[in-house]
Amino acid sequence: MKTYKIFDTTLRDGEQAPGCSMDLHEKVEIALALEKLGVDVIEAGFAIASKGDFEAVRAVAQTVKHCSVASLSRAVKNDIDTAWEAVKDAASPRIHTFLATSPTHMQYKLKMSEQEVLDAITAAVGHAKGHCEDVQFSAEDATRSELPFLARAVEAAVKAGATVINLPDTVGYSVPEEMKRMVEYILTHVPGIENVELATHCHNDLGLGVANSLAALSAGVTQIECTINGIGERAGNAALEEIVMALHTRKDVYGAQSHIDTTKLYPTSRLVYHILGISAPINKAVVGRNAFAHESGIHQHGVLANRETYEIMAPETVGLKQNNIVLGKHSGKHAVEEALKRLGYEVTAEEMSHLFTRFKDLCDRKKTITTLDLEALVSHREAPVTRGYKLERFTVNSGNSVSASAVVRLSDGDQVIEEVAVGNGPIEAAFNAIDKIMPVRGHSLEDYAIQTISQGRDAQGEAILKISRGEETVSGRGLSTDVVEASVLAYVNGLNKLIGPQSA
Ligand code: KIV
Ligand code: ZN
Repeated sequence: MKTYKIFDTTLRDGEQAPGCSMDLHEKVEIALALEKLGVDVIEAGFAIASKGDFEAVRAVAQTVKHCSVASLSRAVKNDIDTAWEAVKDAASPRIHTFLATSPTHMQYKLKMSEQEVLDAITAAVGHAKGHCEDVQFSAEDATRSELPFLARAVEAAVKAGATVINLPDTVGYSVPEEMKRMVEYILTHVPGIENVELATHCHNDLGLGVANSLAALSAGVTQIECTINGIGERAGNAALEEIVMALHTRKDVYGAQSHIDTTKLYPTSRLVYHILGISAPINKAVVGRNAFAHESGIHQHGVLANRETYEIMAPETVGLKQNNIVLGKHSGKHAVEEALKRLGYEVTAEEMSHLFTRFKDLCDRKKTITTLDLEALVSHREAPVTRGYKLERFTVNSGNSVSASAVVRLSDGDQVIEEVAVGNGPIEAAFNAIDKIMPVRGHSLEDYAIQTISQGRDAQGEAILKISRGEETVSGRGLSTDVVEASVLAYVNGLNKLIGPQSA
C-alpha cells in the first residue's frame, strides 16, 4: 500500500482566514496537537508577514520534534532568509517558497514575463537551497496555468534543487477530472520529477477541495496539503479530517495510508474550533455533532440491528467517544481522571487539580456531568498567560421594567477593582463595567453567541465572542451554567488576549 504525506497548513493558510488569527501560545498548542495527530509537515506561518508570525514560527520550530516545520516565503531573498531564520532550529526544517505561474497572476499581479518568472523560480529555490536541504516550491494558481509553461516552471524548480513541488488550486476553480490531467501532465513532461515529492493544495470555493485532493492523489501526488476543519481563505482549504477519513474508509479504492492517528482527529478538531472561537457546523463531515447521529426511526432501527447499515465509519475511529460517561458530586478525583483518560485526554497533575476544582463547582450547579460537560471543562483549561484579569464576582440586575445594571469585581494580581455600569441588558451592563476596569481601548465586540453544551435546564452554556481592535481580532470563551457568567468570562478572556502577556 502506498503512503501519502500530510502537510498541515492550519497555522498559515488557515490562520489567513478572517477571524482565525491565533497568538503564539495557541499556535504552539495546535502544533503539539498536530504532532500527536501524526502530520508529516506543519506549515507554522509566513515568517516575514510580521514580528508575531516570525516568533510563532520560531517557537513551533523549537518545540516540535517529530515532524518537519515549514515557513512560507515569497520568491525573494529577504523573505527566504527570514523564513530560514524562523525554522532553522527545527529538527527537520523546510523552506516553502512560491511564485504564481498563471497568465492572470503573471500579467496583473506580478507584472512579469514568463522568462522573468522562470528566472525568479531558479534564483529563489537556489537561494533557499543555500540555507536548507528541504525546499518546497509552489506554483501558485497552478490549476489556471498553461500546462506547457507550468511544466517549464516546475522543471526550473526541480533543477534548482527543490525537494517538493506543490501544484495548488489557489482559487478553488478546478474539478477532479482536470486535477488528474494536470498531475499526469506534470508527471510525464518534467524530467527528474520522479525524484521529488509531488503535492497538491486545494481551496474549497466550489466545495471540491477534498474531491480535488483525492483526484490528485489518484493521479500520483504523494503529499496533500490541508487544514484542520478546512479553515482557510474564503471558503477554506481541503479539510484534513475529511481527506484522511475518505482515504482510510476507502482503502479499497485508493490503496493509500498515512501516518495519521485517526483517533486524534476529533480532539484536534475541537481544539482548533475552541482556540478560534468558532463552533463546528453540526452537520460537518467527520467531526460535526450530528456526523454520527441517527434520527430517523428506520436508520436507528438499522444501526441497532447492525451498525454498518447506515454507518460507514465508527465514531471511535475518529476519537469521538459515545456520550455515556455520567459523573456526579460523589465522584472522586480518581473517577474524573479515569473518565478523562477514557476520552483520550492527557492532563498534567497541575491541570488535573485545577480541573477537579472546576468539576466540583460544576457538581454544585448541575446534577449529572456527562461526556460533553467533561470535554467542555477540558477545553476551557487555562491558557498559559502570564498576566490576566480574573473574575472575582459579579451581580446583575435586569428586568422588563428597569434598566439593567451590573457590578463587576476583577482582580489583577493583588489588585482588586470593582466597577458599576448600566446597559440595555445585563450582558451589555456587565461588559460596560469590565470596560471601565480593564485597560483596553478602541476595541469593539464583533460576534457574540451562546450555545448549550449538553441537554437539560441545568446545562452548561458556552459563550463565544470575537473582539477586534484595528487589524487585530481575538476570540474569547467562557463556560458556566449561568449564561451571564459565561459571557463575562468570555469577555474578560478576550480582553486579556488584547492586553497580552508582554504587559506583565
Ligand atoms: O493557495 C495557494 O496557492 C497557497 C500557496 C502559497 C501555496 O496558499
Ligand atoms: Zn492556499
